[in-house]
Amino acid sequence: MQTTLTKTQNIYDVKDFNLWYGSNQALKNITLELGEKQVSAIIGPSGCGKSTFIKTLNLMSKLNPSIRMAGELNFRGENLLTSSMDLADLRKTVGMVFQKPNPFPKSIYENVAYGPRIHGIRNKKELDEIVETSLKGAFLWTEVKDRLNKNAMGLSGGQQQRLCIARALATKPDVLLMDEPTSALDPLSTTKIEELITSLRETYSIVIVTHNMQQAARISDETAFFYMGELIEKGSTQHIFSNPDHKRTEDYISGHFG
Ligand SMILES: Nc1ncnc2c1ncn2[C@@H]1O[C@H](COP(=O)(O)OP(=O)(O)O)[C@@H](O)[C@H]1O
Ligand SMILES: [Mg+2]
Repeated sequence: MQTTLTKTQNIYDVKDFNLWYGSNQALKNITLELGEKQVSAIIGPSGCGKSTFIKTLNLMSKLNPSIRMAGELNFRGENLLTSSMDLADLRKTVGMVFQKPNPFPKSIYENVAYGPRIHGIRNKKELDEIVETSLKGAFLWTEVKDRLNKNAMGLSGGQQQRLCIARALATKPDVLLMDEPTSALDPLSTTKIEELITSLRETYSIVIVTHNMQQAARISDETAFFYMGELIEKGSTQHIFSNPDHKRTEDYISGHFG
């Protein structure tokens, strides 16, 4: 559990947010703030809307035409639902890492250089620097520095996931969204990613969905508990895990269901 935070600014301020897949409402009146430069964990049983919620934070949900959204999704004071912010710019600022590592079937170098190239960086020296810095930031550099031109698919699952984090870091984001980033990994790789997240917390605002409550307790500053599309409660991780306000949260964290 992280030490008590000094009150920071909020990066997201979500108000009365609702989301439907067709006629099925998956998120109901979600109101919550997500703090800057801290780790916010989202927990809750399968199907409660965690992935749906985290995917709205960079408007990935806009890719699905059956989705309808209402309410406010304020990112740094700008409502993403009504703003004309360029989606490519948003996704550069708000990076995402998925459950299953999904490197491109290209070299390690090209995986990391991909985003910066798309955003117009052509200079080889500059790209080399970004690749090195990003791989260092993802705790992967020493393991791959002598094989940057080898295919990323040859890396272990844990290394692939750190590569995906390096790829996200390469566009110099402010926010990192992670949807169950360790659920496909072995315990050792999981520990590495947790250490990595703890180090990234200094520089980035991180939102992580996790099935693993011990993980939420270990690495997050704040925790939000979702249940059946609703936010039951959110508070400091210490509070949620030791003395939650709601019985349902207590039942969930003590393993009575989920
Ligand atoms: N692409 C989709 N189309 C229709 N319904 C979906 C889709 N994705 C998720 N849902 C529904 O939305 C609800 C929340 O799902 P999800 O966000 O994946 O939950 P979680 O990540 O907490 O397991 C579920 O009822 C699920 O069936
Ligand atoms: Mg999910």
